[in-house]
Amino acid sequence: MAFIIAIDGPAASGKGTIARALAGHFGFHHLDTGMLYRATGAKGGDPVAAARGLTPADLARDDLRSAEAGQAASRIAAIPEVRAALVDFQRRFAEQAPGAVLDGRDIGTVICPGAAVKLYVVASDEVRAARRAAELGADPDEMLAQLRERDLRDSQRAAAPLRPADDAVVLDTSALSIEDAVARAIALVERAR
Ligand code: C5P
Repeated sequence: MAFIIAIDGPAASGKGTIARALAGHFGFHHLDTGMLYRATGAKGGDPVAAARGLTPADLARDDLRSAEAGQAASRIAAIPEVRAALVDFQRRFAEQAPGAVLDGRDIGTVICPGAAVKLYVVASDEVRAARRAAELGADPDEMLAQLRERDLRDSQRAAAPLRPADDAVVLDTSALSIEDAVARAIALVERAR
């Protein structure tokens, strides 16, 4: 059976960086599930049809990392039929040997509730806004407002809201370097293997 690592948390918490590092360290597959929602939102038209018809080319668009694509993703991600259309792909991805790391908002709660390791990565709003501003070359105050709006929408929606699974370990990266955050995550996985 594949070893599944579920990583959830709000935007710019560090979950993507930790997920990539864990996948590299353990030789596991990695899926950034936010890209599925970003690609669906960026396609335009009927979001349910867009989610059902996602292609590798849709996922390879280079404008998916923008703040606008993140906001569009968060809006269509509240639609239950959009989420339902993306479930099978994520679960199949997770079952690949020798293991997989998936990061998103609902991996530990909905997509892979039986994951061997569940991490819920958080950081203060200010730290997250500063990180995202540096990454995108944008204004930190504007990023702060956008992140808060997106987190609020993601955590208050009825369908698979952003929240830690009951058995998730919470990792606060506010005061941690990338190296320290990754080292802690690796230690947690080692303990579960
Ligand atoms: O993680 P990222 O910022 O790329 O996600 C973009 C948006 O996609 C999130 O704000 C959220 O609304 C949605 N999302 C989701 N469930 C996931 C991953 C992302 O609802 N598993």
